Amino acid sequence: MYHKTLETRIAVYRFDELNGEYQALINKAKEQVEKSYVPYSNFHVGAAVLLDNGEVVAGCNQENAAYPSGLCAERVTMFYANAQYPDVPVRALAIAGWTGGHFLKQPITPCGACRQVLLETETRFGQNIQVLLYGTECVYVLERASDLLPLCFVRDSLDG
Ligand code: THU
Repeated sequence: MYHKTLETRIAVYRFDELNGEYQALINKAKEQVEKSYVPYSNFHVGAAVLLDNGEVVAGCNQENAAYPSGLCAERVTMFYANAQYPDVPVRALAIAGWTGGHFLKQPITPCGACRQVLLETETRFGQNIQVLLYGTECVYVLERASDLLPLCFVRDSLDG
């Protein structure tokens, strides 16, 4: 028997330390929280993706009286980006969460289902997606979506 240790490297930035492109993407995600449809949780999430062609696509969470029929901001945004630009890789994704009258202090972290969807887009295009998780106190920057999901199941796993 032996142990395997998995490590994830997360760069922790102050917002003002980030480059202009990342700041702009985060600002887009922050703006988007105002458009969330969240009558049940009142928890607003905004997301914005930067595509390889320079386009920015933004989205937010959409809830439903039949709770599981709603969808997180990350999946709304990623599916929309992939639907509009099926041949264009996604370069970066930013997420921001807002509740109780303010943005979350600590970086918001995506749910498991969203991680799996981000990973699919990353493997689909064979290009890393940088993930920017916004908090007012700091921003987590991950170099690839797969860092959010160790021991993941991807298309190669189907080959056995
Ligand atoms: N939510 C997101 O949109 N993204 C996340 O990363 C976490 C959770 C949404 C789903 C639901 O509308 C609300 O936040 C509360 O879970």
